[in-house]
Amino acid sequence: ESAERKNEAKNYNEVMSTLPKVKGLNGCDYYLYQCFWYDPSFLEGIMSVQERFNPQSTDIFLASFPKTGTTWLKALTFAICTRSRLSGSTTSSLLSKMPHDCVPFMEYDLAQNPSNRDLAIPLVSTHVPYTCLPKSIISSCCKIIYICRDAKDVFVSLWYFLARLQMSENVEPLLLEEAFELFCNGIANFGPYWNHVLGYWRASLEFPEKILFLTYEEMKKDTAAHVKKLAEFMGCSFTLEEEEEGEVQKIIGMCSFEKLSNLEVNKNGKCLLDISIPIPNSIYFRKGEIGDWANHLTPEMGARLDDIMERKLKGSGLKL
Ligand code: A3P
Repeated sequence: ESAERKNEAKNYNEVMSTLPKVKGLNGCDYYLYQCFWYDPSFLEGIMSVQERFNPQSTDIFLASFPKTGTTWLKALTFAICTRSRLSGSTTSSLLSKMPHDCVPFMEYDLAQNPSNRDLAIPLVSTHVPYTCLPKSIISSCCKIIYICRDAKDVFVSLWYFLARLQMSENVEPLLLEEAFELFCNGIANFGPYWNHVLGYWRASLEFPEKILFLTYEEMKKDTAAHVKKLAEFMGCSFTLEEEEEGEVQKIIGMCSFEKLSNLEVNKNGKCLLDISIPIPNSIYFRKGEIGDWANHLTPEMGARLDDIMERKLKGSGLKL
């Protein structure tokens, strides 16, 4: 097995050396692979899952661009599918484990160790763009839930996340203006953002029964309706009895920003993201609001990114 691994690492390095690269948002080079930019520490996992990841037929994929609401979506879907175990009890994994430790990432956790999951929970998450997903997923009947968000809030959230990450590693973060310029040019890990969104949007139009397309804003505005929609899509609708018992509200409360961000595990715990760098869990919880971009970007910057998104999404039927 180790010879196979060595061989894979060699192939990976060979492919990497041929890819165009550019200085990315975290100061390291990002590589252009199959039309998307990647931080190199994510690329090996992506190439590896493209080659050999096989979903279980019951798997449901949670897909997202970073900072669009992945943590919240993981918490909600996890709470929805484990609710019979939650009912009436205060002990739930979500109280003691960070949502990212409840639902594994395909290209990090499962790329390293495919058995690194609880098979009783049919959830796998991914940031991989639709067109770059392993063929085994595209050709399967597995359902996909995609979440996206206003680009301005995504950018601000991303900048803060990277800045906090870099500060924890004693690295000087990129200036907000420099990072914004890169983001507007499509340069971000898993970017361009608009192409990430468009890939899943188009696929959701083509396969509506297979792909559920959501936005962070809609979810915030009517969380109850979305929790029910999620349950229905996942094949575990709430019964009338459950609704009457307030199960939907219980799940919303449990997964709310206030609840999760105040748990000890999310305030002081750390999680390991692929390359074994411990990341403070707290950096996944910042404000959890719609429109916070206006406190950090000038109106001109906002208008510029809106204009880019509008042009890129033109004709797709999607407005973000
Ligand atoms: P902000 O930085 O705007 O606050 P991701 O989970 O994809 O990394 O996205 C992180 C964003 O989701 C952050 O946005 C974070 O605060 C917000 N978030 C985290 N948990 C949330 C929750 N339970 N409800 C709503 N938003 C949440």
